[in-house]
Amino acid sequence: MSIIESVLNETRVFLPSKEFAKKANIRNIERYHELCAEAEQDFQSFWARQANEQILWHKPFTQILDDRTPPFYKWFVDGELNISYNCLDRHLPTQGDKIAIIFESDDGEVLHCSYRELHQRVCQFANTLKLQNIKKGDRVIIYMPMRIEAVIAMQACARIGAIHSVVFGGFSAKSLHERIVDAKAVAIITADEQVRGGKHNALKATVDEAMSMADTESVKRVVVYKRTGAQVAFEAPRDVWWHEITHDVSTQCEPEWVNAEHPLFTLYTSGSTGKPKGVQHSSAGYLLGTKVSMQWIFDYQPSDIFWCTADVGWITGHSYVCYGPLAMGATQVIFEGIPTYPHAGRFWEIIQKHSVTTFYTAPTAIRSLIKLGGDLPAQYDLSSLRLLGSVGEPINPEAWMWFYEKVGQSRCPIVDTWWQTETGCHMIAPMPGAVALKPGSCTFPLPGIFASIVDEAGHDVENGKGGFLVIKNPFPSQIRTLWGDTERFKKAYFPEEMGHGKYYLAGDSAYRDHDGYFWIMGRIDDVLNVSGHRLGTMEIESALVAHPLVAEAAVVGKPHEIKGEAVVAFVVLKSQYPHDKAAAEITDVLREWVAKEIGPIAKPEEIRFGENLPKTRSGKIMRRLLRALAKGEEITQDISTLENPAILEQLKRPTQ
Ligand code: PRX
Repeated sequence: MSIIESVLNETRVFLPSKEFAKKANIRNIERYHELCAEAEQDFQSFWARQANEQILWHKPFTQILDDRTPPFYKWFVDGELNISYNCLDRHLPTQGDKIAIIFESDDGEVLHCSYRELHQRVCQFANTLKLQNIKKGDRVIIYMPMRIEAVIAMQACARIGAIHSVVFGGFSAKSLHERIVDAKAVAIITADEQVRGGKHNALKATVDEAMSMADTESVKRVVVYKRTGAQVAFEAPRDVWWHEITHDVSTQCEPEWVNAEHPLFTLYTSGSTGKPKGVQHSSAGYLLGTKVSMQWIFDYQPSDIFWCTADVGWITGHSYVCYGPLAMGATQVIFEGIPTYPHAGRFWEIIQKHSVTTFYTAPTAIRSLIKLGGDLPAQYDLSSLRLLGSVGEPINPEAWMWFYEKVGQSRCPIVDTWWQTETGCHMIAPMPGAVALKPGSCTFPLPGIFASIVDEAGHDVENGKGGFLVIKNPFPSQIRTLWGDTERFKKAYFPEEMGHGKYYLAGDSAYRDHDGYFWIMGRIDDVLNVSGHRLGTMEIESALVAHPLVAEAAVVGKPHEIKGEAVVAFVVLKSQYPHDKAAAEITDVLREWVAKEIGPIAKPEEIRFGENLPKTRSGKIMRRLLRALAKGEEITQDISTLENPAILEQLKRPTQ
């Protein structure tokens, strides 16, 4: 049975309880429809109303949308604001003593940081950055552990108008180097070490390695936060300690007022070529998106204790750790560690300890926690929870039901939120007090987001048919361009055949069921989703062929019980086809090599060796065959165009 048929047969529907709906920001489906109707009538006025209500403007905007040069849209064009002011200063008169961050370290130490204190620390660090000669528009790489200081670093950049580019702490020196060079960064903010699950990861040493590579002269400062006190190499005058340079610096800092379109950050993500793309976001439009989604989808209430488990190295950690919750004046939990350390009940323990109300995590975490202890949530008091959320990949109905029953105790709606690095905030997700949920569906678009499913020619397909997911109108939080590559931006996201280059092409396939619910099927490009992380197959292939032993490599995904998708690499060696022990040894070497080239998340789950790869007569690798082989499927497809059919036998099974 096809996925579409099986989903069309999914009949379970979960309505919000009266209790939940009564207190929700959006209390019923009529209100949702009203907002959609308002946006459909005039989406510019709709967003202008939201922008005026949600953002504190230093200078109000007079023009809503400049759409003269699509797809380079500009929102709230002549307005001026500061993001850090909107996240911190605005709360001081009303709730300066409210806790902004409840921080729990890997080993269980808990710190509380109020809005006033966070404001002071951000101002102090912003002044420090200025003293280090970092200015508006400069790019700053942040390569930090998941601690309050990571948020301070990001907010301080926003305060002075510097453009941050956070690199996930799990990326290798080579990946870090690539991002430093592409951004022409002037500074790097890092730590001596990162601690996760009891393991130490030498961040500063990785920065040193990246800095020893070519073309890093743009970097004038490396600011090091002392996390563990481990011995690190120091290169004067480039390297400075966070605690030393902030000492005695003023905690008052006038924000730098920037234009609505001033780039707030770039964040690198994988695409279908070997080189990651620097997704560039704006200031006002991005902030607006994170704020409205906090209210509509997370149904934010001032008494909430919000917990998004994502690392700030990913877009989810930008929008729903660093910006959205602070813009709302929320209290949030930030956790340094991993869900399974020191035991598999750590998440549930944290929810109990800090009375978390809203818990947002990824399906891969849910699936691994089911496996490690499906009954563990029952051992904790999870009665504080009122809303659950899922992000990053399709959530399978079984995991959804477990999350709903065991964690939410059949009381908490689950918001399955579909969005991307490029969209900045939720695009398709339920308003939990209004929308009846179906396990595995992200339900309906947010008001003002005209999502649709179209065919290759950009025409709408009927419900029940699969197609390309597009967004037909400009929206405030959308990607503005790819850093330094406007052509790639246009080509990747606004192809001419899609609404004459005006539809945003998300890169996912999806369909709507007979009730109009959206269901995401997966990527349409050469991008894999491993444990909710985006990986380009080309990136991994380039890494593999860079190894002296490798002649050729092709990478595909195969379904994986916990990770969602796993990386399978088909490799041709320069030397002979390896047997037995040699194959096992080379597999280990290549897996480590990929970890070093990109990061441990990109390590192939499996490597199969061949004397060749299946190719057409024109020399093109037939990836659909490799995907079938990786899944262990019988090849029933047409192989008449295959140059070397015998190779399939060899690649069918893991190398012996
Ligand atoms: O394929 C979709 C999947 O993750 C991709 C975006 O990845 P990234 O930019 O890393 O952002 C992840 C966090 C927002 C999408 O193209 N994806 C994300 N959320 C969902 C999803 N797939 C299905 N359901 C979701 N809720």
